[in-house]
Amino acid sequence: MRSTRTLKKLAALFLGVVLSASACSLKTPVVPEGADSVLEEGRQIWGNACVTCHGAGGGGGRGPALKESENRYPEIADQIQVVSEGLNGMPSFGSRFSAAEIEAVVRYIREVI
Ligand code: HEC
Repeated sequence: MRSTRTLKKLAALFLGVVLSASACSLKTPVVPEGADSVLEEGRQIWGNACVTCHGAGGGGGRGPALKESENRYPEIADQIQVVSEGLNGMPSFGSRFSAAEIEAVVRYIREVI
């Protein structure tokens, strides 16, 4: 009896830890209220297609950190080009997303992350 309860407790604890860890790692930075709605579209794309490699908050992982990437790409067009055409380990997204969608996710990176 006692060991079953302990096991159940352990299982619940384990599940809790796993759930909170995954919820945390999937949390993409929120677009400030009143901001351009395009940024929210960018956040959806970011959450669906980019976080696996760049981390939900843009802290990096398989791909580099993207925080303050606007400093490396003073021109938004150059950053858009990397996302549409790809670069080494960075896949190209030009056939998966429209030009407007790519601009939305790049703006989200530059303005929110
Ligand atoms: C399969 C992993 C992977 C995915 C998915 C991915 N990236 Fe990347 N990304 C990379 C890697 C690796 C690099 C580094 C390329 C290099 O410089 O050689 C990179 C580079 C970049 C850069 C240039 C970074 C810099 O500062 O030089 C941008 C911008 C970028 N990614 C945006 C995105 C966006 C937006 C998405 C989602 C639409 C995305 N990435 C999805 C792996 C990925």
